[in-house]
Amino acid sequence: MKLLLLGKGGQVGWELQRSLAPLGELVALDHDSTEKHADFSTPEALAETVREVRPQVIVNAAAHTAVDKAESEPELARKLNATAPGVLAAAAQEVGAWMVHFSTDYVFDGSGSMPWREDDATGPLSVYGQTKLEGEQLVALHCERHLIFRTSWVYAARGGNFAKTMLRLAKERNRLLVIDDQFGAPTGAELLADVTAHAIREALRDPAKAGMYHLAAAGETTWNGYARFVLAQARAVGVELKATAVDAVPTSAFPTLARRPHNSRLSTEKLRQTFGLTLPHWQTGVARMLSETLG
Ligand SMILES: NC(=O)c1ccc[n+]([C@@H]2O[C@H](COP(=O)([O-])OP(=O)(O)OC[C@H]3O[C@@H](n4cnc5c(N)ncnc54)[C@H](OP(=O)(O)O)[C@@H]3O)[C@@H](O)[C@H]2O)c1
Repeated sequence: MKLLLLGKGGQVGWELQRSLAPLGELVALDHDSTEKHADFSTPEALAETVREVRPQVIVNAAAHTAVDKAESEPELARKLNATAPGVLAAAAQEVGAWMVHFSTDYVFDGSGSMPWREDDATGPLSVYGQTKLEGEQLVALHCERHLIFRTSWVYAARGGNFAKTMLRLAKERNRLLVIDDQFGAPTGAELLADVTAHAIREALRDPAKAGMYHLAAAGETTWNGYARFVLAQARAVGVELKATAVDAVPTSAFPTLARRPHNSRLSTEKLRQTFGLTLPHWQTGVARMLSETLG
């Protein structure tokens, strides 16, 4: 089997390079790849890359993920998050490939306190959310055999992340102020990549499994609860921290250009039942990432 991965250097793309490798021959590209065109800012040219590679599966991990920046550059965000995935999906359909794509809880308006299900009404609050919604719609429209995974609060051991920022601040300051009115589940790029590889194998065996799925770690927390867990884990292994408190503040304490949903809970029942999977608690993945980070 031949697979084409776009966005290989991102948090999820990096882990997909590992998890997809055993499935077959993997052609992994990023926007500055010289061997093939993979720059989403010129979407139309992506179809030629698909025709040249002729993969059985296209996995798109590239996106415009700078949520606040997207507010001031909606055209670029739309190209990367909607037009390009749409072009890839149409090309996938043309060559008979599966199209695997990632989306976000930001397609919802964040109201209520129930975990969002796949068929709940969307209502994005930001350019990022709106363009990601358009992207998932184009993928589903243009490629019959698609898998779309909506996820939330993604972190990876590689590069910067929320946990590392909290640890740095906790070494510098006596108290931290962290938002406690947004609810969701921190989800590791490793978990996303592993579940994606599993789902691809299952879907290739049974095309009826094509569709949209919510994919996030189990359990829920707030950014404040997440920060407290990170600091407690660090203290438990002897890391010296100056901060003695993580104070709870509302979202309004940190104004941002883009509005964030308060309720980012995702119901993963459909994914677990369809693919026979158990999703680990968010603390399991964060603890593992910290043990790698803290040494
Ligand atoms: N991060 C989250 O919290 C989160 C939450 C929910 C859903 N998601 C979704 O999950 C997926 C993966 O996100 P992630 O966290 O792995 O994002 P990420 O780390 O920001 O990676 C995005 C990737 O897109 C690439 N990219 C940027 N501009 C490009 C362009 N013009 N052409 C081609 N590639 C370009 C980046 O390349 P460079 O690094 O070289 O610029 C990078 O490889 C995305 O669909 C995202 O919307 C993310």
